[in-house]
Amino acid sequence: MTGKIKGTGACPGDRLVTNEDLAEIVETSDEWIYSRTGIKTRYLSTGRGTSEMAAEASRRALENAGIHPEELDLILLATSTPEYCFPSSACQVQEKIGAVNAAAFDISAACSGFVFALQTACSFLASGSFQRILVIGADDLSKITDWSDRKTCVLFGDGAGAVVMEAEEGGLFRGVMHSDGRKGRVLTCLSRSEGNFLTGKKPEYGFTSMDGQEVFKFAVKKVPECIDQVLSDAEISKEEIRYYILHQANERIIEAVSKRLKEPIEKFPMNIREYGNTSAATIPILLDEMNRAGKLTRRDKIIMAGFGGGLTWGAVLLEW
Ligand code: ACO
Repeated sequence: MTGKIKGTGACPGDRLVTNEDLAEIVETSDEWIYSRTGIKTRYLSTGRGTSEMAAEASRRALENAGIHPEELDLILLATSTPEYCFPSSACQVQEKIGAVNAAAFDISAACSGFVFALQTACSFLASGSFQRILVIGADDLSKITDWSDRKTCVLFGDGAGAVVMEAEEGGLFRGVMHSDGRKGRVLTCLSRSEGNFLTGKKPEYGFTSMDGQEVFKFAVKKVPECIDQVLSDAEISKEEIRYYILHQANERIIEAVSKRLKEPIEKFPMNIREYGNTSAATIPILLDEMNRAGKLTRRDKIIMAGFGGGLTWGAVLLEW
C-alpha cells in the first residue's frame, strides 16, 4: 500500500510585488536580485493569513481530486508561520473547509516542511491508519520578514499549496528525512522571547535572519546526497526520473544541484521567478502549476526535495 496524489491546489498571496517595488523601500535593484536569485516578483498577502491561504489551496485541491472534505481523515499542515500557538493551522483549515471527520495537526520543519509532511502522510497511508490525507504547505513569510533588511526581504513571498493523497495498492514511495540542530543558527526566526513575571522581560518578536552563504553550501551538498540516497534505496536510476521538484529558494542552488547530479536542468522545473521563496509552499505550488498545465503523466516518477531551517532536508520519490 502506498499513497497517490489525487489532486492539487494553490493559493498565492493576493498582491504582486516586483523587484522595482522593493527598490523603493530598500537599497537594491532588479539586476542584483535577479542575477543572484532568479526572482523577479513575489506575491504578498495583505489580508489572508496562513490558514486562509491554506484553506483556499485545499478547496482547490479537493475539487481537483473530486473528493469531498468530509471524506478526509487526516490534515497535515507544514508551516513556520501559524497564526496561533494553538489551535494549529491544520485545525483552522479543518474548520474552514468543513473536514469534520479529519484529525489535524501542524508540522514544523521550515522549508523542508512539505516534504516532511508528505513522508508522514505516505507512512500513515502505507500502515493503513488513514485512507485520505490532505497535505498542505503554507507560509505567510511577509509577517516575519524585516522589511528594512535588504539581505532577506528580497527573497520571500507568501502562499499555500495542497495535495490530496489516497491510499492505493502497489505504486512507489521512498523517502529520506534528515536534521542537524547543531547548525540551527544558520537560519533562524525567534517566535517570542522568554519572559514571565519573574524575569520581567517584555515580549519580543523576531524576524528571519540568515547566513546566506552557509545556506547555499548546505543546500548544494545535502540535496544531491539525499536524492542519491532515495534513488539507491529504491534501486532506480536517474534516467527513470521525469522531474526533480526542488524547494524554490534560489535558482542558482537548483542549477548547482542539477550539475552535481549530472542531470539536465530541463528536469528541474522552476517558478521562483514569479513567486520568490514561499518556504513550505514552494513545492506544492509548483506541483499544482505542473499538474494543471498537463506536464505530469500517470506513472511518471518524480522526486521532491526540500531543505531549510533546523537545519532540515529530505527527499521523496513518488509515482504520479
Ligand atoms: N541588494 C543589493 N545589495 C545587496 C542586497 C540586496 N538585496 N543584499 C545584500 N547586498 C549586498 C551586501 O550588503 C554585500 O555588500 P558589501 O559587499 O558591500 O557588504 C553584497 O551585496 C554581497 O552580500 P552577500 O550576502 O555576500 O551576497 P551573496 O552574493 O552571498 O548573495 C544570497 C546573497 C543571494 C542570499 C546568497 O548568499 C544565496 O544565494 N544564498 C542562498 C540562501 C538562500 O537562497 N536562502 C533562501 C532562504 S533559505 C531557504 O529557503 C532554505
